[in-house]
Amino acid sequence: MQSASSDECARVVVVTGASSGIGLATALAAARHGDHVVLFARGLAALQVAATACEGAGAASSRLLCVDVRDAAAVQDAVRTVLQWHGHIDAVVHSAGVVAYGRFEDVPPEVFDRVITTNVLGPANVVRAVLPGMRQRGTGAIVVLGSLLGRIAAPHMSAYAVSKWAVRSLVRHLQVENRDLPGVTISCLSPGGVDTPIYLQAANYLGHVGRPPPPVLSPEKVAAAALRLIDHPRRNVEVGATNRLVTLGFAVLPRLYDAIVTPLFDVAATDRRHPTPAGPGNVLQPTPEAYRLHGDQGSAVHSILAGVRSRLLGPPDS
Ligand SMILES: NC(=O)c1ccc[n+]([C@@H]2O[C@H](COP(=O)([O-])OP(=O)(O)OC[C@H]3O[C@@H](n4cnc5c(N)ncnc54)[C@H](OP(=O)(O)O)[C@@H]3O)[C@@H](O)[C@H]2O)c1
Repeated sequence: MQSASSDECARVVVVTGASSGIGLATALAAARHGDHVVLFARGLAALQVAATACEGAGAASSRLLCVDVRDAAAVQDAVRTVLQWHGHIDAVVHSAGVVAYGRFEDVPPEVFDRVITTNVLGPANVVRAVLPGMRQRGTGAIVVLGSLLGRIAAPHMSAYAVSKWAVRSLVRHLQVENRDLPGVTISCLSPGGVDTPIYLQAANYLGHVGRPPPPVLSPEKVAAAALRLIDHPRRNVEVGATNRLVTLGFAVLPRLYDAIVTPLFDVAATDRRHPTPAGPGNVLQPTPEAYRLHGDQGSAVHSILAGVRSRLLGPPDS
């Protein structure tokens, strides 16, 4: 898919996980900026919708490639295709990621493994494929989505949190190794809770759905931070008013943190009003019917009140 208004001067921006949430918001923001956007995700249908929206938003061109970021060879092929189309890549925003909810021993091993491989090997494969071209040109920006959970521990999200700690480590090591490339920047962008569909399409072995804990960010705000990092690179950027406070509490008061994190998580980061059957969600394969820009889970206040009520009185059906 390519729009008529192709512009030789426009940047070439690759966005992974571009069919939903933060990736979709980033692709749309780049499109509004007039960039050439190339959208990666596994599922074709949602990518087509996203590419059409990017065209409408003003992209110099909008193309898509179905690629599973876990597959190193497929990622290499996809990046080769982008280079054939555009000759170079100016920036990559790696947003593809999946979540699993449940106690460690309740999450099936194949789901746990898939969260780790998607979230850790995914960015490794993408960086491995794009870095040589950027090294050759001496310029380029890579932004990898981390998470507040890459700095702290949270109950019932072990696979995801382990993967995001690894993402932060991967980016940190890449920053050390590529100090000889001042024009090539690698940034880790770590939001707190963002209103995207990820919570509803996550693998879930908890019994009720997860939700973004307040203060809830919009995907547009995180996308704006990602685009800012392309122009004004920084090594690590946190988005979320309480990220630093939570991280500080985790580091400085570990015993207090451990004592309060599970009740706080139950109340603020899950929604007891919405029971859900156990299943892998979009972890093993895409769930395109759920993909869109926002999560639209409604008021955090009502959800938190339901969480408090169920902790005090027990679940509604008990
Ligand atoms: N939402 C939050 O509160 C939050 C907070 C902190 C960090 N983050 C991070 O931000 C990133 C985006 O999250 P989101 O909330 O925007 O998620 P989302 O709405 O669920 O979107 C996930 C995107 O990733 C794609 N994807 C999943 N597995 C893939 C794979 N193996 N290969 C290629 N693409 C894949 C999905 O498309 P297909 O299924 O079609 O592949 C979809 O486009 C993630 O890395 C997440 O960890 C999110």
